[in-house]
Amino acid sequence: MHTAIYPGSFDPITRGHVDIIERAARLSDTLLVVVMKNVHKQGMFSVEERMELIRTACAHIPNVQVSAFEGLLIECVQAYGAQAVVRGLRSSTDFEYELQMAQLNRRLDPACETIFMMTAPELSCISSSAVRELAAFGGDTRALVPDAIAEQVNARLGGR
Ligand code: PNS
Repeated sequence: MHTAIYPGSFDPITRGHVDIIERAARLSDTLLVVVMKNVHKQGMFSVEERMELIRTACAHIPNVQVSAFEGLLIECVQAYGAQAVVRGLRSSTDFEYELQMAQLNRRLDPACETIFMMTAPELSCISSSAVRELAAFGGDTRALVPDAIAEQVNARLGGR
């Protein structure tokens, strides 16, 4: 693939996200990691902070670019002329939601393909909301977020 888009809230980026990014980057010339708005979630980090954390966490992957987009995912795909959207699947619960999103996006634009990648089993319990909750209670988020950003996330969210 020439260009693939990996969209998400990334609030903040986790070890699970980086696993998907590393693997998806091998399948495309350019992998665009795009910070987008999920109307069902309230943001903790600003969009700029999220982008900076992603850049730091993915500094070792040369063909990754980071950006943000306001609007529909399908508009983002069209704006960048991307061939596919990449999403990670942790569980059957993710699947139901992701299936609906992928079908909806194809309904809006039949050319929009979504590629699903299974999260590494040892990372499937990780979520950004778990990171935020752990840090809110003073826990150490090191096991959940990439080493390069752990200190920053802990400092910002009140974790150890
Ligand atoms: O990391 P998340 O929160 O699971 O990512 C979800 C995201 C941001 C990719 C999804 O909410 C999204 O695509 N938002 C943009 C608006 C959109 O296109 N929604 C689906 C069609 S109505």
